[in-house]
Amino acid sequence: MKNKLEQIRKEAMEALGGLHDLGQLEEFRVKKLGKKGELTQVLRGMGSLPPEERPIIGQLANEIRNELEEGLRKRTAALKQAAMEKQLEAETIDVTIPGKRPVLGKLHPITKVLNELTEIFLGMGFDIAEGPEVEWDSYNFEALNIPKNHPARDVQDTFYINENMLLRTHTSPVQIRTMLRQKPPIKIICPGRVYRSDAVDATHSPIFHQIEGLVVDRNITMGDLKGVLDVFAKKVFGPGTRTKFRPHHFPFTEPSAEVDVTCAICHGEGCRICSHTGWIEILGAGMVHPKVLQYCGIDPEVYSGFAFGMGLDRITNLKYGIDDIRLLFENDIRFLKQF
Ligand code: PHE
Repeated sequence: MKNKLEQIRKEAMEALGGLHDLGQLEEFRVKKLGKKGELTQVLRGMGSLPPEERPIIGQLANEIRNELEEGLRKRTAALKQAAMEKQLEAETIDVTIPGKRPVLGKLHPITKVLNELTEIFLGMGFDIAEGPEVEWDSYNFEALNIPKNHPARDVQDTFYINENMLLRTHTSPVQIRTMLRQKPPIKIICPGRVYRSDAVDATHSPIFHQIEGLVVDRNITMGDLKGVLDVFAKKVFGPGTRTKFRPHHFPFTEPSAEVDVTCAICHGEGCRICSHTGWIEILGAGMVHPKVLQYCGIDPEVYSGFAFGMGLDRITNLKYGIDDIRLLFENDIRFLKQF
């Protein structure tokens, strides 16, 4: 029996070195040390031994069990260590390889121009005001002296939400909101999205952007309006730029004007962009109508003001030489990448 045990020990210890994965090791453990394993099998025969030999054999069996268990533990640890080293080696990072540059986003051309224009007005002491895109009919029209059935409502083909609410057709209702909230002196610009149910083509989009300006105080004159817009035009289109006021009509300003700037492309010579006139219309403006001031609780005998509104999309197109407004809204990456 002793010989058998020694035999098991010898074979097992030799076999152990030849095992190369954890599965094999477990199989080995069951085969040698398990309930039906070789060692147990031999010990089953203990009953037939003379009593004085039993403790000796028992002790030997225990020794062998301990030895095998220890051997298994070491082998398992060695295999795990080797596996870990292999994995670490495979995952080595070469920190000297040049990195991949992440693709950076860019500002949309409208946003760039908006930021530029905003800076100019902030520099002249204007504050920024904002208003909702879903607006009351009364603020978008009535308060601006455009009553129901007024022909000017036709010009501004409107998306109605219901009888009293609409998508604002211009940023002018923000004038009303500001004057209802705040008494003069008022000096604000209001940038934002506006909506008109125009059919889409190269120069029309049902959604576009405006910047509104409003100044109300004592003794504000048309001269102040012209001064502000002249400085503005020179900053946006270059120092040689001139402005021209043409008489016009808006229900909410009196007198009203459309303002042209000398064509930034041909500097007034005449070219395709300015239809060979040398001038480009960029905004509407005028002195705030007394009725509008009155609606907002501002006494037109004491205060006067001017207002202007311009299309941001048009100015963006002029600045960058873009010939189709649709490009600004399609968000084609190949187009946007250029700015
Ligand atoms: N709200 C006018 C428009 O959308 C522009 C404008 C604003 C004109 C302020 C005069 C004064 O056409």
